[in-house]
Amino acid sequence: MTQSPDFSSVKGITDKLGRPVRDLRISVTDRCNFRCTYCMPAEIFGERYEFLPRPHILSFEEIERLARVFAAAGVSKLRITGGEPLVRANLPDLISNLSAIDGIDDIAMTTNGYLLAKNAQALKDAGLTRLTISLDSIDADIFKKMSGRPQGPENTLEGIKVATELGFSPIKINVVVQRGINDHTLVDTARYFKGTGAIVRFIEFMDVGTKNGWELSQVVTFKEVIELIRSEFPLEPIEPNYPGEVANRYRYADGDGEIGVISSVSEPFCGACSRARLSTDGKLVTCLFASGGVDLKTPMRDGASDEELAGIVAKVWSGRTDRYSELRSEDTEFKAGPDTGDKVEMYYIGG
Ligand code: GTP
Ligand code: 5AD
Ligand code: SF4
Ligand code: SF4
Repeated sequence: MTQSPDFSSVKGITDKLGRPVRDLRISVTDRCNFRCTYCMPAEIFGERYEFLPRPHILSFEEIERLARVFAAAGVSKLRITGGEPLVRANLPDLISNLSAIDGIDDIAMTTNGYLLAKNAQALKDAGLTRLTISLDSIDADIFKKMSGRPQGPENTLEGIKVATELGFSPIKINVVVQRGINDHTLVDTARYFKGTGAIVRFIEFMDVGTKNGWELSQVVTFKEVIELIRSEFPLEPIEPNYPGEVANRYRYADGDGEIGVISSVSEPFCGACSRARLSTDGKLVTCLFASGGVDLKTPMRDGASDEELAGIVAKVWSGRTDRYSELRSEDTEFKAGPDTGDKVEMYYIGG
């Protein structure tokens, strides 16, 4: 019988600010079938753009092995992201292996929904527990403009419908808000989903990565979003589901469901940030705004034991001091944050 690994070095680890690691976001591919202007603008990510070559991408076995180490460290929530996770073949196989890991009780996925309708059943059967679908506007023209593709939202909406019928609940809809681009359609997007059980979450446009030309003037703040929605539908604030939840929650006064607003720029939430990120090529990234990560793939491929991998994770997490968004807002009216060099891109570490 093989002995189970000794994970004592990493158990219950906290960082320098006393934050545990509870949530691991795994990017399974850096590719995407959309070209959202704020993430992978088509003029940069054209036909010739070189994504990671296959050998650099973690295999499912490697992801699963690292996820076990993180579970031993205290992670109970996994989120599968990308790029677009559904462009990776056989994804349900990964989900079913991850859902068998001791200590993992929640596996969510963030997807643009384009390929969801035909995959939703297999994902459900594999043990996916929750779904977040990105959809920036219900207006077809604005949707096309923001997603950088000629199709409207029909496929994404069909994916949401199928997933709802299969019982994924609650489904969350992520709307990245950009001033002058989709802010005039927020009320319509909210109206479309009101009463369906889906929770629309409006996200302040963030200065993540280096390629989206972020400017503070494009950020519509959390307070402005609430005022916009409230002008049409009365809202009441509600308590977070758990400490450190990123979305500020509001319910419709008429009982028709809830919305959320993610205030990462105007009111950051680093204080309770217990999120680690695993990049497509196996780097441990400790902040969405980090300039890089610590390579776990190379030691793993060079034969490191599970205990040794746990030792690396323990060392990195116990030295973590990240609170980029808070530093950004201390630096006067939440302007661009401290220069961390070339920040990693969203599609490489997931949102
Ligand atoms: P659950 O509570 O598990 O449903 O997920 P969540 O609320 O964390 O939502 P999700 O993971 O979908 O995050 C929504 C969006 O919030 C992301 O796509 C990011 O844009 C933003 N976000 C999530 N985590 C962080 C973070 O650690 N830092 C910052 N600055 N933004 C984040
Ligand atoms: N600001 C805010 N949200 C972003 N996302 C991607 N880039 C940004 C950004 N610059 C969102 C996507 C998706 C999730 C993965 O992150 O829309 O919902
Ligand atoms: Fe693709 Fe999501 Fe980036 Fe849009 S935000 S390009 S859907 S990875
Ligand atoms: Fe966490 Fe970094 Fe986001 Fe702050 S800015 S909440 S530390 S990922």
